[in-house]
Amino acid sequence: MQKRSNSINILGIETSCDETAAAVVADGRLVKSSIIASQTKLHEKYGGVVPEIASRAHIEKIYPVIAEAMAQAGVTKNDIDAIAVANQPGLTIALVVGVTAAKTLSFVWGKPLIAINHLYAHFQSAMLSEDELQLPAVALIVSGGHTCLYDCQSPLELKLLGSTIDDAAGEAFDKVATILKLPYPGGPSIEKAAEKGNPDAIKFPRTMLGPQSLDFSFSGIKTAVLYYCRGQDMKGEDKVDSMNRQQIADIAASFQKAVIDVLLKKTQRAAERTGAKMVLLGGGVAANSELRKRFGQMCESATPPQKLLVAPKPYCTDNAVMVASLAYHKYKAKLFADLTLEPAATG
Ligand code: KG4
Ligand code: ZN
Repeated sequence: MQKRSNSINILGIETSCDETAAAVVADGRLVKSSIIASQTKLHEKYGGVVPEIASRAHIEKIYPVIAEAMAQAGVTKNDIDAIAVANQPGLTIALVVGVTAAKTLSFVWGKPLIAINHLYAHFQSAMLSEDELQLPAVALIVSGGHTCLYDCQSPLELKLLGSTIDDAAGEAFDKVATILKLPYPGGPSIEKAAEKGNPDAIKFPRTMLGPQSLDFSFSGIKTAVLYYCRGQDMKGEDKVDSMNRQQIADIAASFQKAVIDVLLKKTQRAAERTGAKMVLLGGGVAANSELRKRFGQMCESATPPQKLLVAPKPYCTDNAVMVASLAYHKYKAKLFADLTLEPAATG
């Protein structure tokens, strides 16, 4: 059968952590389908992602999810021009499921294979509504596993300016939610609790790592929340059970504000240093409405104002649209992988 359109259709596959995702995207921007099988329920009782459980769930879901993405897009294998997969960074035993599926389909269907860096894909999700980068541009990718600042030359060329030296910002949200006994996953729970809280109620630390640093550190604030709830050096009793809703809300709002202050300050520093005209924001934590609002205010009040591109909310957390979208740039540049492609934990 013939291909039915001139568009470049790419099937994207994402299994780097706890979402099994597949999507078909045409010409890098037109989302024809996006399917995500979330494993939240499986990991909930452990308070975090258990790699072995994630891997097993990916194995169960990967083919149904791909089949559904193809069906929702109304395409057959004849309409697909390439298969893209996130192969790094992430949990190796989770990544390997997507990589194996992608290699198998590439071989059986006779389609080119494209390897995608998951963090670059998060960056690309901020580019879904825009073709052109206005240079210089800086990007903050803020997720459960990473907190990175980039100087962006193109969607395929990101120069790392700074990253976290300990916990990622999303990880801090998740850990603080556990301390406050809020439901998993922690980021959205903290955001919800914070809505009714006073962000100035408690002065949690803002770790800046010196006046020039573009790196981040979030383990101190997590410990500060822990000590606030359990007493210095964990010697006191856990006060969380006896706190009322307002007290929990105040801790959540104060914590959230402290994290956002740091993310904002470091991004502003990077933007000033590079003379950025454009600021991009992506990754799971970028779904946070307060963070989005404050980034909007920061870019508007810069002199001259900077253009802000934020990933649409459904494409902040892990998804395969961002994988297929970024793969379009690699497809055009003929940057293909071969069947020796392996997953890598870092990258
Ligand atoms: O990008 P992502 O789905 O996975 C990784 O690549 O790590 O990010 C997941 C992270 C989790 O830590 C989650 O708590 C956080 O993003 N997150 C949020 C929100 N939604 C998700 N953090 C703050 N506010 C949110 N609304
Ligand atoms: Zn991610």
